[in-house]
Amino acid sequence: MEQKVFFIKTFGCQMNERDSEIMAQSLSTYGYVEGMDIAGADLIILNTCSIRAKAEQKVMSMLGYLRKNKKNKPDLKICVAGCVAQQEGKRILKKMPHVDLVVGTQNIYNIGELLLESSKNGPQAAIGLDDKYDIPNLLPTLSSRNQDATISIQPFRKFVTIMQGCNNYCTYCVVPHTRGREVSRKSNDIIDEVNALVKGGTKEITLLGQNVNSYGKTNSVSDNGNSYSFSDLLREVSEVKGLKRLRFTTSNPKDLTDDLMRCFQNIDNLCHQFHLPVQAGSDSVLKKMNRKYTVRQYLNLVDNLRHYCPEIALTTDVIVGFPGESPEDFEGTMNLLEKVQFHGSFSFKYSDRPGTRAGSFEEKIDETIKSERLARFQARQDEISFKRNREYVGKIKTVMVEDCSNDSVKSRTETNHIVHCAKTIDARPGDCLDVTITRAGQHSLQGKIINPG
Ligand code: 5AD
Ligand code: SF4
Repeated sequence: MEQKVFFIKTFGCQMNERDSEIMAQSLSTYGYVEGMDIAGADLIILNTCSIRAKAEQKVMSMLGYLRKNKKNKPDLKICVAGCVAQQEGKRILKKMPHVDLVVGTQNIYNIGELLLESSKNGPQAAIGLDDKYDIPNLLPTLSSRNQDATISIQPFRKFVTIMQGCNNYCTYCVVPHTRGREVSRKSNDIIDEVNALVKGGTKEITLLGQNVNSYGKTNSVSDNGNSYSFSDLLREVSEVKGLKRLRFTTSNPKDLTDDLMRCFQNIDNLCHQFHLPVQAGSDSVLKKMNRKYTVRQYLNLVDNLRHYCPEIALTTDVIVGFPGESPEDFEGTMNLLEKVQFHGSFSFKYSDRPGTRAGSFEEKIDETIKSERLARFQARQDEISFKRNREYVGKIKTVMVEDCSNDSVKSRTETNHIVHCAKTIDARPGDCLDVTITRAGQHSLQGKIINPG
């Protein structure tokens, strides 16, 4: 078979990173190998995100730019996959006639077949979204991707999808529309995948889902039909021999159980890090967002998490300028920031998304006010993150090595902080070392290697 080269550009979340891996793996059975740039590619895939208007605009402008490439190389195949593909479907083919294939979020496993189909019969859009979707089982082959493509596909650190879709219908969010109804994978399939990865040299696993806390709630995930929760899954995965670190993302506070919080106390290899999106610090905004918790309830969760795991590093997502957000509502978000002192946060200006309820809400906030609020929030978060980073100075931490190809060693703590050290010993990615933290920067820490951990 003639070997062809594909180039894949991933936008958006870790879920998409994992989906890109799946497409890469599927394509490898169709004679494709991964390349590192657009120039040498026979097939270009944009794996897209539509969570915010800006993310979607980025994809559209890149697609427009690829028109030239197709003109210069008529055999070039262009594929749009992921959330924008799901959302726009055939409209993409109409607007962008140089696109050969549109692959929706549940169709990525068939990308190879769909490509053949488009070669035979012209441009295709596969965007079926099945409510009772069975996530196919594709055991990972660690070698299926170009290992330099992104940091997240380094073989010692891998993602495992445990569920797809979302049933929460937060009023601002496009995900239920692009990823469909919530479906959890069978626990045995997940354990098999983790076992295969760890056997192949993986040291750290991140379990992925739009709302992992509700794993197993909408469909049966155990072979005997017994109830089985996300905490049960965490316990089982954590016991896979050779797995050094376990993480998960992302969580909705409304489904966070005491049992799950206690896992941070009881599971040794569960990393002391929690991403718990709050979105807003005002009860009335949270209600309009359909988040189903109050500020007080969120603060109680934070207290409980810190009770079970005092050193846990908390991060969050915040939206500013949601329709109707008053100056007082926004002060509520600033107050929450002061109370929790998050280690870090991701903050965004609200943007209307197609098909969402908030899209039709009145009292839209002026863009300049949104920008001012975002700037204020981010400036304060930067100060807090820096202060949090300084708390680590003088402490001894175990870090996992990510890169030691230069004279410094780049590594990561359990709390997800990057640590740079002078290369005083030879280490490989995935090795654990003990370091003393010597300095804190705004975005990373510096340390000194003491001994292999
Ligand atoms: N506008 C702005 N931010 C959004 N997010 C999700 N939808 C929107 C939207 N319409 C943010 C939320 C979510 C993160 C992934 O993106 O904070 O947690
Ligand atoms: Fe973007 Fe959400 Fe789709 Fe991930 S699931 S790619 S964040 S829209």
